[in-house]
Amino acid sequence: MKAFIFDLDGVIVGTDEYHYLAWKQVASEENIYFDKKINDRLRGVSRMESLDIVLERADREYTPEEKQILAEKKNDIYKILLANLTPGDRFEGVTETLEEIRKKGYKIAIGSSSKNTPFILERLGYRNYFDAVSDGNNIKHSKPDPEVFLKAAEMLQLDPSDCYVVEDAESGIDAAKAGKFTAIGIGPAAGYVKTDIPISHFSDLLKLI
Ligand code: BG6
Ligand code: MG
Repeated sequence: MKAFIFDLDGVIVGTDEYHYLAWKQVASEENIYFDKKINDRLRGVSRMESLDIVLERADREYTPEEKQILAEKKNDIYKILLANLTPGDRFEGVTETLEEIRKKGYKIAIGSSSKNTPFILERLGYRNYFDAVSDGNNIKHSKPDPEVFLKAAEMLQLDPSDCYVVEDAESGIDAAKAGKFTAIGIGPAAGYVKTDIPISHFSDLLKLI
């Protein structure tokens, strides 16, 4: 193996709570029920597909224009919350582990559905840190489509069979498998049937190098 491609949200940093708070505000202004269980379904899913899930509980149809406005409103709230992120919000052990992986000669990349990836990486002090960043801004199809990871491998000039993908979401594991990557599952994805290698802590990656 020559590289690790990391999902961002839920693997490197936890912005779930911020997604939750932003969607909750949008949903309550529309009088739509929303809770943490519904929020869990949004993991790895694109912004517009997330909105469709939120609107499942609405009692009327929304036009494409209305949906656009709601998605922008959610993102505005989310970005205000993201501005609170600091390097201290990187998950425990992440930087030390990435340094070790690097030292052993592996390339490291990000493969995230989020269009806010550059902003999040900057807030975390990771601007220009990764060898490649593939995110919601350069893809047409969101996870479980493998596009975001295939683009990351392409940027690294590597074959998927040379790359591990590290994911916390089932949709991300499905995407990795569809792209013929080796799928490492952490958090909720550790117990997923399609996961090749489950890990309980980010530093468990050191056992693979
Ligand atoms: C993923 C999150 O990282 O990014 C999803 O897990 C989110 O919950 C998706 O919907 C898109 O994010 P953004 O920042 O482009 O709205
Ligand atoms: Mg994730």
